[in-house]
Amino acid sequence: TGNVTYDPGFMNTANTKSHVTYIDGDNGILRYRGYPIEELAEHSNFVETTYLLIYGELPTREQYEDFAHRITTHTMVHEDIKMFFNGFPRSAHPMPVLSSAVSALSTFYSDSLDPFDKEQVEISTIRLLAKVPTLAAYAFKKSVGEPQLYPQNKLNYAENFLRMCFGVPAEEYEVDPVVAKTLDILLMLHADHEQNCSTSTVRLVGSSHANMFASVSAGINALYGPLHGGANESVLHMLDQIQNRGLSADEFMEKVKNKEDGVRLMGFGHRVYKNYDPRAKIIKGYAHDVLAKLGGNNEMLDLAMSMEEKALADDYFVERKLYPNVDFYTGLIYKAMGFPEKMFTVLFAIGRLPGWIAQWREMIEDPETKIGRPRQLYVGEGERHYPTAQ
Ligand code: CMC
Repeated sequence: TGNVTYDPGFMNTANTKSHVTYIDGDNGILRYRGYPIEELAEHSNFVETTYLLIYGELPTREQYEDFAHRITTHTMVHEDIKMFFNGFPRSAHPMPVLSSAVSALSTFYSDSLDPFDKEQVEISTIRLLAKVPTLAAYAFKKSVGEPQLYPQNKLNYAENFLRMCFGVPAEEYEVDPVVAKTLDILLMLHADHEQNCSTSTVRLVGSSHANMFASVSAGINALYGPLHGGANESVLHMLDQIQNRGLSADEFMEKVKNKEDGVRLMGFGHRVYKNYDPRAKIIKGYAHDVLAKLGGNNEMLDLAMSMEEKALADDYFVERKLYPNVDFYTGLIYKAMGFPEKMFTVLFAIGRLPGWIAQWREMIEDPETKIGRPRQLYVGEGERHYPTAQ
């Protein structure tokens, strides 16, 4: 193991070069392909940003329309996939249901899985972008015992997803433009974040030349964990605990600071940002407005804001450079939109999908890519011998 470096959590190890996303964690800067996230949030939309991340440039109007059209025409999933959903218990969390369904896509499209065939990669890209929201909505419908709805192609990406989640066959579903626009922006803010746990997983799995569906399915499972995508769900649990279970905000903060039972202030801290997460800043910027319009729980938002204020003034958080991250406010907004907590991470997965795809493609096209294979420092027993009867 001569020159092996011990680096748990890859704190200091770059596994790849990348053109996709730039983060300056000390200064709270995030750019997709060079464009500041604030400008994209103001002027772009999720489908356009997806194009930017995957192909490297903003699309012309014609390119945009063609791309959006191609996604739209692939939104249905094979009827047989629906049967999968019946095999899960009703209480199933929609994340593992989604990752299983995405993994299963490679059995339905087994003729176009070659990672080195550009056309096949392109069609898998479109299929994933188009079908993941449909599968996610099916997983949701299953969990609430309602019939699954087919996608409707006259609607845009966010509208279509909302209708598949909240519509019922008995009634015409009216898309609320505020909800649709808000969801679109939230998805865009999640679209990529360089080598986070799930994206690194997608690259690592893909580095063995596993197909894009298999790689993305692994990414969904990585995102499922509470320290990653599951954090937005945990934020609401935490706020609920403080609001409804008789624990004051100060008592909770003391627990966090004393590291009692491993309690953390969820939605705070980040491996890379040692400053305010720019995505959290954008979301916080209009959380009040959106919640007022949607009739959300403003008391919980006020509680979140007061927790943030307390933390930012507290030595424990200041010394460790712990600031709110993207998940601190998203859960409150998703809840106001009507999503149950177990769907929050699924929404993160739909948002992060373009980043996984862009990075998987970059990895496959990069001649410097090697199969991911970390080393270790062996600290176990030295050689010993199997006891044999004397
Ligand atoms: N609350 C209290 N203490 C914290 C927190 C927190 N949220 N985050 C980090 N710390 C402390 C930690 O205990 C450690 O203290 P000490 O130096 O005394 O041991 C120090 O800060 C450094 O933490 P770390 O765990 O070594 O940092 P990391 O880079 O390994 O972890 C993190 C990053 C995001 C996993 C962590 O900050 C965390 O667990 N946050 C809460 C979960 C969360 O909000 N996750 C969402 C991340 S953003 C979206 C995404 O990528 O999914």
